[in-house]
Amino acid sequence: MTDRELVNIAKDAMEKAYAPYSHFKVGAALLAKDGRVFKGCNIENASYGATNCAERTAIFKAVSEGCREFEKIAIVAGSGDYASPCGICRQVLFEFMPDGKVILDSKEKGMVTFSVQELLPFGFRGEDIK
Ligand code: THU
Repeated sequence: MTDRELVNIAKDAMEKAYAPYSHFKVGAALLAKDGRVFKGCNIENASYGATNCAERTAIFKAVSEGCREFEKIAIVAGSGDYASPCGICRQVLFEFMPDGKVILDSKEKGMVTFSVQELLPFGFRGEDIK
């Protein structure tokens, strides 16, 4: 699965975004190591803090289906510009794919790729609690 193919699946996932408050639609496509792809969109709430970002929707869908090993995730926004993962999402990405990569796409600026470690240096992990 190429990065471009994964970005296109993320664009499709974005169609399902529920964003009546911010009107900022986001889609994500998560490639698991076993080849499965999980789609996610942002799901907002009248109580704003209950909102779930697209990346976390994709990861939680996958984990709830028993899939825990991931290679890469593509994230796109309806604005056409980059949707950089928020801090909470970076922490969730770090939990499940610390060696994975994140692909962002912008209509004008094109695709960019970051490692999860780049997005969350010196991240907090389960081993720290043991
Ligand atoms: N959002 C995401 O879904 N992912 C990101 O990477 C950035 C932000 C959502 C959350 C909220 O529904 C809207 O974008 C505005 O913050």
